[in-house]
Amino acid sequence: MRRFTLNLFAILPIIVGTAQAQSPATTGAISSNPAFEAFGGEPGIAKIVDNGVNRLVADDRIKARFATANIPRLKTLLTAQFCTLLGGNCVYEGRPMKETHDGMELRNADFNALAEDFQFAMDDAGVPFRYQNVLLKQLAPMQHDIVTK
Ligand code: HEM
Repeated sequence: MRRFTLNLFAILPIIVGTAQAQSPATTGAISSNPAFEAFGGEPGIAKIVDNGVNRLVADDRIKARFATANIPRLKTLLTAQFCTLLGGNCVYEGRPMKETHDGMELRNADFNALAEDFQFAMDDAGVPFRYQNVLLKQLAPMQHDIVTK
C-alpha cells in the first residue's frame, strides 16, 4: 500500500504536466473558452478595459477616486486581471483587491457605478449578455474585499 502511494505521487506530476502541455488554454493555440472568445481574447479585453476606465475617470459619481491614480498602470493590471478571470492565459501581477482598496472607504454605490461603466464598455464591444455575466459573476465576490463602508 505504501509503495503504491509513493508510485502514484511519483507519476502524478507527469500526468498533470502532460495534460497541461496539451491543453489549448495553456498553449493559446486553440481556445475552447467561449467567454474569453466573446471578449475578443486579450486584445478585446484590453479595448474594453480602455473604454471602461475612460468611463470611470469621466463618471461624476466616482471620478474623484481616480484623480491621483496611475491610469495606464491601472488599465494594464485590469486587463490582466479580467483576462485571468475569463480563463485566458495571462498573469495578474497587481496587488490583492483588499490591500489595493484598503482605506478608500468605498461604498456599494461606488462598486455598482464601476460595474455599470464596465457593462457599457462590454455593450459597446458587442459582448453578449451571457458572457458579460461570466465576468460580472467573477467580480461580484470581490465586493467583500473592496467595499468597506
Ligand atoms: C470589481 C471591482 C473592482 C476591481 C476588479 C478593481 C480592480 C483594481 C485593480 C486590479 C487595481 C490595480 C491594483 C494595483 O494597483 O496593484 C485597482 C486599483 C484602483 N482601484 Fe479598483 N477595482 C474595483 C473597484 C473599485 C472601485 C469601486 C473604485 C472606486 C470607485 C476603485 C478605485 C481604484 C483606484 C483609485 C485604484 C488605483 C490605486 C492606486 O493607484 O494606488 N476600484 N483596482
